Amino acid sequence: MRALVTGASLGIGRATALRLAQDGAEVVVHYRHHRREAEALCEEIRGKGGSAFALGADLSDRGDVERLAAAVSDRWPTLDSLVLNAGSYPRARFRDLDPETFEQCFRENVFGSAELTRRLLPQLEGARPGRVVFVSSVLAFDGSRHGAHYAAAKAALGGLARSLARELAPGVRVNLVAPGAIDTAILADDTPEVRAGRERAIPLGRIGRPEEVADAIAFALSDRASYLTGATLHVNGGLRFD
Ligand SMILES: NC(=O)c1ccc[n+]([C@@H]2O[C@H](COP(=O)([O-])OP(=O)(O)OC[C@H]3O[C@@H](n4cnc5c(N)ncnc54)[C@H](OP(=O)(O)O)[C@@H]3O)[C@@H](O)[C@H]2O)c1
Repeated sequence: MRALVTGASLGIGRATALRLAQDGAEVVVHYRHHRREAEALCEEIRGKGGSAFALGADLSDRGDVERLAAAVSDRWPTLDSLVLNAGSYPRARFRDLDPETFEQCFRENVFGSAELTRRLLPQLEGARPGRVVFVSSVLAFDGSRHGAHYAAAKAALGGLARSLARELAPGVRVNLVAPGAIDTAILADDTPEVRAGRERAIPLGRIGRPEEVADAIAFALSDRASYLTGATLHVNGGLRFD
């Protein structure tokens, strides 16, 4: 089993890479800026008897995406699992939003992930079945008061994932995981009041852990989900139901 997890230097991606490695996968730990963290994670996986290597790329850069896909396909003739998790959430009100921030958000969340998937299709199709998970957000469904660009980009991933689920079946299963508020660097700037407000709004009464999202991603990739494609798994403590 071979897996590529984008944005695996930190947070949800890191937890997912660890989880897949624990389940026996060889893992590519992708990173953008946090190379040392990615290398340390590979060491940790290897220390536990697993196999991992790190590759860097800015997914908002087309050349980087091409080089990342080539580095993976040169090394691996087939790819069982692709997790498109990398993304950031720069807060900005719509009225103040500059077009560059809007475009950058789509480049890294949507275009980069779509192009990486497209370039790795031969490897995914060779795995029989290939498995893909896109990491969206609850905000794709509920909207965001200071992230119209982010909510729009995450919603676009839904259209992409459901289209690929149709076009690539039966050779590749494609699903979406939509986290709610999860305890990672993305929430690091929360004041204690903002954090308490988030917790009050969540029926399960707390912010989620990256490992709880990783478990849903690992399930969607696994053979236990062999009849699951085009689906959205909401991992949000009850913040929204579908
Ligand atoms: N945490 C939440 O509450 C929450 C809720 C809903 C959805 N999500 C989504 O979950 C995913 C993971 O988020 P997280 O909370 O784990 O955030 P995080 O801890 O900040 O990690 C983000 C990861 O994405 C990578 N990344 C960001 N922009 C990139 C780019 N342009 N090119 C390549 N890699 C890039 C980062 O790489 P470097 O650090 O190495 O640069 C890092 O590994 C994101 O797609 C996010 O939108 C998170």
